[in-house]
Amino acid sequence: MNGAALLAVTLAGLQACLATGGRMEEVLSWKQLDFQFPTAGAREAAIASGDFVAANNGPQGLAVWRDKLFVTVPRWKSGVPSTLNYVNITHAYPDLATNTLPGEIGGPKDGTLPHKIVSVYRVRVDVCDRLWVIDSGRTDTKDDASRVRAPAKLLVYDLRTDKLLRQYAFKAGDVKEDSFFANVVVDTTPQTCDDAYAYVPDLGGFGVVVYSWRHNASWRVKHHFFHFDPLSGSFNVEGIDYRSTDGVFSIALSPVQGDGYRSAYFHALSSTHEFLVSTRVLQNKTIAELPESYYAYKVLGSRGPNTQASASDLDEKTGVLFYTQINRNGLGCWNSISKAEDYGPDTNALIASDNVTMAYESDVKVDADGNVWMLSNRLAAFLERGLDKNEVNFRVFKANVGDLIKGSVCDVLPAQSAAGLQPPTKRNSPNS
Ligand SMILES: *[C@@H]1O[C@H](CO)[C@@H](O)[C@H](O)[C@H]1NC(C)=O
Ligand SMILES: *[C@@H]1O[C@H](CO)[C@@H](O)[C@H](O)[C@H]1NC(C)=O
Ligand SMILES: *[C@@H]1O[C@H](CO)[C@@H](O)[C@H](O)[C@H]1NC(C)=O
Ligand SMILES: *[C@@H]1O[C@H](CO)[C@@H](O)[C@H](O)[C@H]1NC(C)=O
Repeated sequence: MNGAALLAVTLAGLQACLATGGRMEEVLSWKQLDFQFPTAGAREAAIASGDFVAANNGPQGLAVWRDKLFVTVPRWKSGVPSTLNYVNITHAYPDLATNTLPGEIGGPKDGTLPHKIVSVYRVRVDVCDRLWVIDSGRTDTKDDASRVRAPAKLLVYDLRTDKLLRQYAFKAGDVKEDSFFANVVVDTTPQTCDDAYAYVPDLGGFGVVVYSWRHNASWRVKHHFFHFDPLSGSFNVEGIDYRSTDGVFSIALSPVQGDGYRSAYFHALSSTHEFLVSTRVLQNKTIAELPESYYAYKVLGSRGPNTQASASDLDEKTGVLFYTQINRNGLGCWNSISKAEDYGPDTNALIASDNVTMAYESDVKVDADGNVWMLSNRLAAFLERGLDKNEVNFRVFKANVGDLIKGSVCDVLPAQSAAGLQPPTKRNSPNS
């Protein structure tokens, strides 16, 4: 790997240090992000030219594969040397050159970026040892003059060789004027690596772009439930009061069910409701566009006031859906198997929370070994007023799923563990 490492400059908590959230261990933290440049001289030159401004780098997404902890750093502000990185349980991925934009650190100045990674919010590792990257293609998104540097695209890497397997730029029909792609979920099993689907929520355009690996094709799916709820668009994090109109943000997948498809649980960021639809609808453009498919989308229910969530992920073994809690500085959960018929404030739990260390939970992932990983990044403060470089600002937490949910409303029922996994059954929907 000749890439630059994203260095854990301040490993404040490499050893176990229990957060007051109680159930999650803080495994990594940073005051500011720093990167491993090829040489110390290259780093100094990047600082001198403004290509690297430490205070403008904030992490947003994470994913884990073996001893690599992927950490994304979107180009919200100028001076981000590399958007896609990893920490050796942080290096530029696959290397620094791919992450360098024209005009930054002596990169090519031709203005075309076909082989560059522009700005990544979140990534996903699949069961076929691939890394799926959604590149938003935009920089300086904090400014009104958000710059589109390249079309949004999907990149898929072979994690065993670090080779780019595929790059797919979204087509004109996939993208709307206000589109913003900050997340990706991958639907595949070890037996269907060549028939994988990626679902990419469009939080600005209120749709989902579906990509089929086998057909190397994409299409856009529309539905009312992909929009934000105007009554749930207010946020307060670390005393910063702000409004968001982010629509469909995150999708989490159930295990494969009897009919060969999964339930896709989804929500808008500015909403307290959770919805679901079968992947049967998403995977076929013709079916997705049938008028009657409107009714294939179900309202699960609301978690209650102040429960707006950004990222989510589902643990297939226990059926527990984990989601970030932006207004409550923590992590929420719901058991999609034992509480399949009952979605509401009483069946959702705030499983970890800390007003200081968990301020702005930006991502959560369940890894292949049954661990939950969560990243907090003080995003509201980072974007609004900037962060104090003398404070710890970014943290990675980890917990075993079983330990995390034990004794909570999300815990597995004894009967559930004995009988093994039962796929969720049909639900009633207020809308059907
Ligand atoms: C992480 O560090 C260890 C020990 O220094 C090394 O053996 C391993 O190859 C590194 N892994 C990555 C992914 O760089
Ligand atoms: C997939 O389609 C894109 C055009 O949208 C093309 O550039 C690329 O080469 C195709 N990849 C494969 C593997 O067919
Ligand atoms: C999509 O569904 C339609 C209608 O059921 C079917 O005719 C078509 O073959 C399906 N397409 C694919 C690619 O499976
Ligand atoms: C965390 O902050 C919320 C809202 O700002 C407040 O209601 C709650 O009491 C705080 N929790 C603790 C433990 O301080």
